[in-house]
Amino acid sequence: MIGLFDSGSGGLTVLAALRKRAPNADIVYFGDIQNAPYGEREAKELVRLTESGMKRLSEAGASEVVSACNSVSLSVLMGSAGHERIIEMTRPVARALRAHAGGTFLLIATPATVRSGIYRDAIGVSVRFEELPIPELAPAIEFGAEKGEMRGIIKKSFLEHGKKNYDGIILGCTHYPFAREEIEKEARDMFGATLVIDPAEAVAEEATRRFSIEGKGTMRFLISKDSEVFRTRVRELFPEARYTIEVL
Ligand code: DGL
Repeated sequence: MIGLFDSGSGGLTVLAALRKRAPNADIVYFGDIQNAPYGEREAKELVRLTESGMKRLSEAGASEVVSACNSVSLSVLMGSAGHERIIEMTRPVARALRAHAGGTFLLIATPATVRSGIYRDAIGVSVRFEELPIPELAPAIEFGAEKGEMRGIIKKSFLEHGKKNYDGIILGCTHYPFAREEIEKEARDMFGATLVIDPAEAVAEEATRRFSIEGKGTMRFLISKDSEVFRTRVRELFPEARYTIEVL
């Protein structure tokens, strides 16, 4: 069974990409809403949260894991997950970016992800990129902000970053696809960026290749705190699916 891990509902965007490719995979998902957002936490805390999240997934029967949270990618690569069969967000997208060699990108992510330097390390020199942390965006998305509020947060960060030209934007936080339209529009207006790279696609592609995807298509969601926003997103993303949501 494949486990997915995130601070909350962001990992659902990765799960949606995975289900498109592997509808029969059996899934257990852990969203640590009680401790969300992760993006402004210290590296040490993220190690602890990664360890306990992965433990929950193992106890629930996950033998392979997609860590669908960029903010814990460094912890995962340092070995805190305790899993051998694990895919995190940054390596697959770094490989996918080779198709855009020579391009210029703006990576937007949580402060924890930018601070960890994990994308600089993964991407190397294949594309040129700059990083912009947007502290308020993941919590706004997690706790159900209106589109207008999200647009305001994005616009303000882009304006503070200043007018530059990029070929594209990399969504370095799995929550951001929920604000994709707003990001896309502001990125075009401000930076002339026309490409939006969602790492979920490369991660899902790798999971489909490496993990066991032949099951019954069951989905079990475990959340550390109840959330109507989370429940609504699951309902909207997987209208045809049968699943359970358990509050731990
Ligand atoms: N979705 C996560 C990420 O990709 C965490 C966001 C947060 O909890 O701040 O970084």
